[in-house]
Parts: sequence; structure tokens; C-alpha cells
Amino acid sequence: MLELKDVCFAIQKDGEPLNLIDKVSLQVPRGHFMAIVGPSGCGKTTLLKTIAGLNEESDGSLYWNNLNLAEEKDFEPAEIGYVPQFSIAYDQLTVDESIESATRLRVKIKNYSDLDNRIDRILEETGLADLADRPVKVLSGGQKRRLGLAMELVTGPHLLLCDEVTSGLDPRSERDIVRLLHQLSRRDGRTVISVTHSLAHLELYDSILVLHEGRVAYHGPPAGLTHYFSVEDTEEVYPQLAKQRSEKWQSSWSKHREAYYGQLERRRNELIQSGDLSVPADNTAVKESARKKTATTPLEDPAAAQEIIREASELVQTPGIFSQFSTLLGRRWKIFFRDRGQVFLQLAILVCFPILVALFSDRGNENIKRFSDRYEGTLQQIQEHTMVEKSYLSVGSAVSGIVMFQVVLLSLMGSNNSAREIAGERLIFEKEKFGGIRPIAYLGSKVAFLGSLILIQSLWMAIFVQQFWKFPDGAEAGFLDHTLFLVLINAAMTFVCLGISSLMKTAEQSSLLSIYLVGFQLPLSGAVLALPEGIESITRPFISAYWAWSGSIDSMSPSYRNAIDAVTETSFQSSNACLYLLTIHIAIGLIASYVGLKRHHWD
Ligand SMILES: Nc1ncnc2c1ncn2[C@@H]1O[C@H](COP(=O)(O)OP(=O)(O)O)[C@@H](O)[C@H]1O
Ligand SMILES: [Mg+2]
Repeated sequence: MLELKDVCFAIQKDGEPLNLIDKVSLQVPRGHFMAIVGPSGCGKTTLLKTIAGLNEESDGSLYWNNLNLAEEKDFEPAEIGYVPQFSIAYDQLTVDESIESATRLRVKIKNYSDLDNRIDRILEETGLADLADRPVKVLSGGQKRRLGLAMELVTGPHLLLCDEVTSGLDPRSERDIVRLLHQLSRRDGRTVISVTHSLAHLELYDSILVLHEGRVAYHGPPAGLTHYFSVEDTEEVYPQLAKQRSEKWQSSWSKHREAYYGQLERRRNELIQSGDLSVPADNTAVKESARKKTATTPLEDPAAAQEIIREASELVQTPGIFSQFSTLLGRRWKIFFRDRGQVFLQLAILVCFPILVALFSDRGNENIKRFSDRYEGTLQQIQEHTMVEKSYLSVGSAVSGIVMFQVVLLSLMGSNNSAREIAGERLIFEKEKFGGIRPIAYLGSKVAFLGSLILIQSLWMAIFVQQFWKFPDGAEAGFLDHTLFLVLINAAMTFVCLGISSLMKTAEQSSLLSIYLVGFQLPLSGAVLALPEGIESITRPFISAYWAWSGSIDSMSPSYRNAIDAVTETSFQSSNACLYLLTIHIAIGLIASYVGLKRHHWD
């Protein structure tokens, strides 16, 4: 049973608390199908979120099976299903795959046949069996709502909360969905609460709660609605509500409440007696008997005792972190390859960027050859001297420029990798987090996915460009260090932008900020123009591109370092310092990502 006692939810408006939900009290027994109706903006979604625990009540208490949700025991993720107003499935997956990933993420499955059985049962239950292979993208509105429901049913929740799952549907689909919800409430004692602003098909519900300006105006049988509001037709309820202030409705309801609750109770007993409603013994009673059972078995193993209690209350277990991680990673790759546009863009960048660098390195090559000759030659003629000095300077700027070019392009790739990675699917993640997916498993899957992109992009950049522009002396060590710094710059930008993407509210904000971040890398790096010292010392620690450039150059042989030193006024740091700084950037990006993921981001 779900019970609310004088529940309020307040926000601060102009420094004053304002109750969006005001002293809502209600009782909903197991196996009950309730509608929350009311005009747009009356607080239906807010009330539903307060019940789900997504909004913290500012006053009053909520009880689930007689336990205080705030103090004694919160909902288990598997116990509650919440179908939000927005779509929670990925367009690129099929119906079957969406339900499969929801199951793998939320239910500890025993084996493949267990998984298949679960998926088949849910497809059947929600009428999606014929659409199993269809991509989510092509589903109709009604089919998408069914899928949203199906994905919440994977844990067999005891409480199912639905927000406007019928809005925007044609009358027939609307009726079908209400019927489906009705059926779901007849099984396993599942309580279903459905928010809707539509006043059609109310007869299918066990009770209707009418909300007006955050206050309860009525909660009773659908048949009592017209009588209570003294109207001919349910459609006239909203105009009638507007005639009186919500405080008035609230106080008159408190006088009639007991009588209507008596009616609901009688109706419920009739349903149970006629066999139309089967309600298993109350959870608490089952748990109590399980507790007694565990008391008689040896209690050395608390895990085993927990298991008995859990099984008695029929809750599925949430899978472990690693299992969630691998499901999320597998899904991410699948979505990546299904999105042709994204694959094409990634390939184009992967191929074209190194070619671009190779084109620019062509002219540098000439000078580098001559530069090498100078060190190999034993005899110098006076006439050659000036030319060689000139080429010495050219080599400095060519090597510095090519390294910087690679670094900047890899920064760009990094920000392109991750700027939308979390922000673009934030609502889906929030929903999944609510369903028991751990932020660390989610972050791990992102790191593994992005890590593969980083390695492919950076290694290919290093190897491809090396074919056209070789480090002529002391090559091996120089090349390896250079490659390491290319990997690090790509990783630093990827993970810093991942952090941005996790902290920002929208994908647009996150993309914009990431673009600015990359845009400032080149001018602020000091590789092109030396900055005034005051500014330089402030900005430098934040400019990943500088550290990658500097580290790469520091690991070259002294002759090249000197040549570069001669052309730029910007000093470079020891490669070890660069390594530390870039590692810190990566760590900051990862920490920001984690902090952002832990935060609540529903609205
Ligand atoms: N976090 C919030 N901060 C400020 N106002 C809010 C917040 N959440 C909801 N509201 C406001 O509270 C009212 C009720 O919102 P909501 O519950 O979404 O209405 P409904 O679902 O009934 O259409 C609206 O006027 C909405 O703008
Ligand atoms: Mg709403």
C-alpha cells in the first residue's frame, strides 16, 4: 500500500517558499489502478516525482507497505517503475534490443534462456511481439509508449508510475494503452498510478484523483465524479474546478473523504471476492514470515538471510557493476555503428586530418634534409653559412608547426568525440540511474568506448605523418615520446569535454563550450604568438595543447630543440612536467564527468 500524509513540495520563489504540492493525503492499496487528473500545470508531474522520490517532500510523509520512505526504507530500484513523459529508448536500437538492454541492466539474469523468456513475456504482455525487430525510430506514438512501459516492466515493479503515457495519441491508441495499464494492475498486486490530463476512459480506473493548483479536490470512484462536482459530464469538471479557489476544494474534500474511501474499499472487496483482482499477501507480511524463517536458520551468513527475505518479496536483483558496464559498452558500440552519419564523420576526420598535416610537412622536409646535411658535413664554406643559418631557422618553425598542427587537430578530434556524449542522452541516463544503473559503470563504459577512439585516432595520426616526415636523427625515442603526447592531448581534450558534457544541462551548451575550449588552445598555447608574461602564467596551466606540444619537443634531440628555441619566444618545459600536467587534465575531466553524473538532471 502507498500512503501519503499531508505531503507538500515547495520551491523558493522571490525568497518565499511556494507549495507546488500542498498537503496531499491519499491511500492506494495493492492492485489498484489510479488516475491523477487535472488541468495543465496543476502539479501532476510534480506529485508523481514526489512519490517516486525524485522530488524531496518539504513536509509530510510517504509510506510504502507501512514503512516510512524517508526514514525507514526507500524504494528498491526494482520495486518501482517510472515511465516519464519523454522517450527513454535509443532510436538506433530495435524494440527487442531496447527491452534486452533494459533487462540486462536492471535484472540479474541466470542464463540466456532466462533472458529470452523474460523478453518474450514482456513483448507479449505489452502487445509488442509483432514489432520486436522494428527500429525505435519508426514506431508510432502509441507503440513508443508501449515500449516505454515494456522497459519499465522488466523488473516486475510493484508500483508503476506513468506520466502522460496517453497524451498526443489518437482515441483508439489511448484506449488501448489505458486498457493495458488496467490489465497490468490486475496482476501480481501491482499498483499503477497514471497521470493524464485527458478525461476520457475514466471508467477503467479504480479511482480518480483530481488535482487543482497542487491540492486534492477529489479522490474517489470514477462514477462519483459527476455527482461530486455537480456536473452532467466529466468533461465539465475542469471548468467547474476553476469556479472556486483550490483551498475551498481542499477543505470541502476533507469533509467528504471518508465516505468516498468507504466506497472504494467496498468496491475493492467485491473485486477480490469475484476473482477479478488477485492480490498476493501484503509485502510486509511476506517479509515478516521470511524474517522468522531466517531466524530459525543459522545466521552466520547474513547474505543468505538477505536472499531469503528478498526472494520472499519477489524482487529481482540488480546486476553488478561489471555486468552493467559491459552491457552499456556493447550498446554504445552498437549505436555507434548503426549511426551511419557518425561513422562516416569519424572516418573522414580520421583519414583527412593526418593527410592535412602531411601536406604541410612537405616543405618542412626540404629544410630538414639540409639541416641534417649540415651536421653530417665536416666542411663549411663561408658562402653556405648564411643559407644554412636560414634553413636552421626554417627547420625550427617547421618542426614546431607540424607538432602543433597535429596537437590542435587531435584536440579537435577529442572534443568532437565527447562534447555530446553524455549531454545528448542525459534524460535516458537519468532514467536508467533511477532504475539502478550505477554512474561508475556508465562512466566506465564511456571511458572504454572513447579510449578506443582516442587510440585509433592518435596512433594513426602519428604513424601516418611519420611516413612523410621523419625524425631524422635520434628517431626512435623521439617518435615514441611524440606519439605518447599525441595520445595524451587527445585523451585530455576528450575527457575534459566529457566532463563538460556531464555538467552542462543541454547538448547545445556542451558543444558550444567544447568548441570554445578547442578554439582557444592554439592562440593561448604560445606556439604561434608569445603572450604577455602575466597572461601566459595564468592561462598556461589550463592549455592542454601547450603541454602536449612542449612535451613532444622536449623529447627531441638537442639539435632540434635548439632550432625550435631559436624561432619561438615561448619556452618549453621538461617532458616529465608535461606528462604530469596532461595526466592531471585527464583526471580533472574524469572527476568532473563523475560529479556531473551523480548530480540530478531531470529538468
Ligand atoms: N522545479 C520547479 N521549479 C519551479 N517551478 C516548477 C518546478 N517544477 C514544476 N514547476 C511549476 O509547477 C507547476 C506544476 O508543474 P507540473 O507538475 O509539471 O504540472 P502538470 O504536470 O500538472 O502539467 C507548473 O506551473 C510548473 O511550471
Ligand atoms: Mg506534467
